[in-house]
Amino acid sequence: MQLSDKKVTLSFSDGSEPVELPVYSGSIGPDVIDIRKLYGSTGMFTYDPGFLATASCESSITYIDGDKGELLYRGYPIEQLAQKCNFLQVCYLLLNGDLPDAKQKEEFESLITRHTMVNEQMQTFLSGFRPDAHPMAVLTGLVGALSAFYHDSTDINNPEHRHISAVRLIAKMPTLVAMAYKYSLGQPTIYPLNSLSYTGNFLRMMFATPTEEYEVNNVVERALDRIFILHADHEQNASTSTVRLCGSSGTNPFAAIAAGVGCLWGPAHGGANEAALQMLENLQANGGIENIGKFIAQVKDKTSGVRLMGFGHRVYKNYDPRAKLMQETCKEVLEALGLEDDPLFKLAMELERIALEDEYFVERRLYPNVDFYSGIVQRAIGIPTTLFTAIFALARTVGWIAQWDEMLSDSNHKIGRPRQLYTGSPARNVP
Ligand code: ACO
Repeated sequence: MQLSDKKVTLSFSDGSEPVELPVYSGSIGPDVIDIRKLYGSTGMFTYDPGFLATASCESSITYIDGDKGELLYRGYPIEQLAQKCNFLQVCYLLLNGDLPDAKQKEEFESLITRHTMVNEQMQTFLSGFRPDAHPMAVLTGLVGALSAFYHDSTDINNPEHRHISAVRLIAKMPTLVAMAYKYSLGQPTIYPLNSLSYTGNFLRMMFATPTEEYEVNNVVERALDRIFILHADHEQNASTSTVRLCGSSGTNPFAAIAAGVGCLWGPAHGGANEAALQMLENLQANGGIENIGKFIAQVKDKTSGVRLMGFGHRVYKNYDPRAKLMQETCKEVLEALGLEDDPLFKLAMELERIALEDEYFVERRLYPNVDFYSGIVQRAIGIPTTLFTAIFALARTVGWIAQWDEMLSDSNHKIGRPRQLYTGSPARNVP
C-alpha cells in the first residue's frame, strides 16, 4: 500500500486537539484511513459492527467492484477465468499470484492429484458420526481432525510447511466431502483415482459404487469445475475473515480452515443456495409460473417476511458477474442432461425477468446473485441439497488458505483482537 498525499483530520466538538490520520491507497478501489494510532492519541475506539466500513487487512488476491459488477482474482476478470481456465489453474493463480505456464500446470496438477488420499484412520473417525449427521457437521470434524495427522507440517513460520498444508487441504477436501456423502448413504467410500481430473475424480468419488463402472460426463465435469471457480475466493467475506482471525493466533492451518467451514455453514453465508432452491421448489409446488405475480407481491410486502432468495448482495449493487456465468452453465447442463424443460429453471428465468422489470427491485438495485442458479445446476447433477454448502466449502478452501498464507507473510500482521464499547455494569462489589 502507498501513503497518499491526502490526510484526514478528526476534530472534536469538546475542544480537544484535532488528530491527523494518514491515508493509504491500494492499486484500485477505495483508499483507507489508518486509525491504528487513534486510541493512543485520543483514548477512543472506532465502532463498526459487521465491518461495514473497515478494511481488516491489506490483500492482493481478490478485488470486487460492487457498483460495476466486477470480480477479479489476482487481476483477472472472473468471466475470463471461468471460460479459459480449469479450477486447478485458478487454485495455482490464487496461491501464487500468476497463472501457471504449461509445465507449472502439469506439476501442480500432479502434486494435487498425489495428495488426494486421506489417512485410513479417518474412516474410524468418520464412523463415529451418526449417519444422519449434517454433512457440514461431519466436514467441520474431518477437517479439524486433519491437524492430528500432519505434525510434520504445522510450523506456520516455515513457508514450505505452509505450502504443503495448502496442497493437502485443496487435494483432500473433495475426498472428505465425498466420504461424508457416501457415509450418509451407507455406501462404501470410493477412493480417489489418479487418472481423473480434480473435478472428475470428485464426481466419481460421489457417484460411483464398487459394483459398477462410472463414466465422468464432460459437461457435468465442466459445470462443477466452473462452480468451483466461481466460489474459489471472494475477498474478506465472513468465513475468510474467520480463517484469518483464527489463524492470526498462530494455530495450525487445518484448525483455521475448520473454523472457516463452521462459519460458512450459516444460512446468511454458504447456506443461501440451499434456501434459493427451496424457494423455487415451494413456488413450483404452489402454482409455479402462474403464481409468480402473487409471490412477487408477497416479497414486496415487508410484513410478509418473504425474500426473493438468490437476489441481492451486500457488495454487488449491479449484476453479480458470477450469476451470469452460472445461468450460462445451467443452460448447458440441463441441455446435456436432456432437462431443457426443467420447470425450476423456467421458473427461475421468469422470476428473474419479472423482478428485473419491477420498480421495487430496480430502485433497490437487487439483482440475481450466484446462488440463484447454482442450486438448479447442482440438483441436475444429482447433488443433494444438504451437500450444497459442503461443495461451497470445497471450492472456497483455496481462497481461505491463500488468504491465510498471505496474512502470515505480511510483516504487519498481528493477532486479531477487536475492541468494544462496554455497556454493562461499572465495577461493583459482591454483596
Ligand atoms: N428480496 C426482497 N427484498 C430484498 C431482498 C430480497 N432478496 N434483498 C434486499 N431486499 C430489500 C430490503 O428489504 C431492503 O429494502 P428497504 O430499503 O425497503 O428496507 C433493501 O432491499 C436493502 O436490503 P438489505 O437487507 O439492507 O441489504 P443488505 O446488503 O444488508 O443484504 C442480502 C444483502 C443479505 C444478500 C439480501 O439481499 C438478502 O437477504 N438476499 C436474499 C438472500 C441471498 O440470496 N443471499 C445470498 C447472498 S450471495 C452469497 O452469500 C454467496
